[in-house]
Amino acid sequence: MHTEPVGLVSLNHDRLHAGIVDPEMDSMRILSETAMKFPEALSFSSGAPHDGNHDLSKLSYYIDRYIKHLEDQGVPQQRITRLMFQYGPVNGFIQDEVVRMLKHDEGIDVSPEAVMITHGFQEATLVALRGLFTSPDDVLLAVSPAYVGIRGAARMLDIPVRPVPEGPDGLDPEDVAAAARAVRAAGRRPVAVYLVPDFSNPSGTVVPLESRRRLLEVAAEEDLIILEDNPYGLFAPDGEKMPTLKSLDEQRRVVYLGSFAKSAFPGARLGYLIADQEIEGAEGAQGAEGTEGTKRTLAQELSKAKAMFTVGSSSLSQAVIGGMLVDHDYDLTTPTRELAAVYLERLDATLQALAEHFPPERYAEHGVRFNTPHGGFFVVVEVDFDADLTAMERSARDYGVSWAPMSMFHLDGGGRRAIRLGVSNLEPQAIRTGIARLARFVADTPRTGV
Ligand SMILES: Cc1ncc(COP(=O)(O)O)c(C=O)c1O
Repeated sequence: MHTEPVGLVSLNHDRLHAGIVDPEMDSMRILSETAMKFPEALSFSSGAPHDGNHDLSKLSYYIDRYIKHLEDQGVPQQRITRLMFQYGPVNGFIQDEVVRMLKHDEGIDVSPEAVMITHGFQEATLVALRGLFTSPDDVLLAVSPAYVGIRGAARMLDIPVRPVPEGPDGLDPEDVAAAARAVRAAGRRPVAVYLVPDFSNPSGTVVPLESRRRLLEVAAEEDLIILEDNPYGLFAPDGEKMPTLKSLDEQRRVVYLGSFAKSAFPGARLGYLIADQEIEGAEGAQGAEGTEGTKRTLAQELSKAKAMFTVGSSSLSQAVIGGMLVDHDYDLTTPTRELAAVYLERLDATLQALAEHFPPERYAEHGVRFNTPHGGFFVVVEVDFDADLTAMERSARDYGVSWAPMSMFHLDGGGRRAIRLGVSNLEPQAIRTGIARLARFVADTPRTGV
């Protein structure tokens, strides 16, 4: 018979870090796993990219392509072998390739020393926040609603966040200035502002060009670093691509948090941090190869944080993405045009199906309104009941359609009666079926008092 050993340690939930105890911190897992939990339901719950034309043979093809690229540059076999099998440089080894891609795709002009290859956007964010926030009074301003990854990263590092609500044109620079002043008036220090200027997650907003310029001015006036997160910019409709804040940044105000999750594939778990700010007082840091007598960039200084979080990014993933960049001549814009057309077709199918099931002239009857983004992966639908996780699970289980509660993205307790539809991973026909199911669910759900 099995007997329990005595004296086993058990820990009280409340003794764990707030980032673990807080139920809101489960949102990333819930969003990624809802589709698996309800396999029968059509899933609008995540922003998973289209998995249509992935090809297993491409993985080894790109690795070979990257190795050949190194050989063509005269790198000896033995060094290539070490690069693939050994611990590698903390900041990665495909910075040159990323720099060329950034110049081509985004008009961003930086040196390889300003680039750190990371474990996705998520690690780039953790590293940047860890380096920039030094006291409990340092506050992060963040667009609200916001991607769950930023709230979670700040929470895990005990960094207080002040939400700055966005409007139909995303974050208003004057609201950022006002928020920075309010934080200062309360005796704290606003350090940085986070936003997704292009087709934001969750609300699909795009910050207009003039506001981008003004935001850079406000950042200078208020001494803020801008944390620019831009996974969806490449998927703009033809002719609508906006310049990134980083490409407009003449004063090195912007730290750019890049991701290959949508432009390549999320399984690589690869992204990058661009931080070209020079660090005073860090000249010629000991032992750092090739940096004697030169100023170090923030990306180089932050390698201490990266080393302690993850030691380095996967050599295999870097070789795959590096090979992809070389193979496409450092141009991800052209190969993602086809993908952009797929996403725009899905967005269009969603908006058409919503218009059909929830015509504006019958708003009083169905109580549903939705936004009409020009691109990106998401549509926000306002409903007339509490769209919480319990409602979502009922929708998935009983009506065969899942979505994400908007309250997961609001940093200020808002979004109770709204849902986010992620449209990127469903074919148009499935989208039409899914919206018809959603319409039945909405019709059957009793209106709740405000
Ligand atoms: C706003 C935003 N930033 C970043 C990412 C990608 O992050 P990662 O590179 O960690 O997968 C996503 C993915 O959903 C996103 O929506």
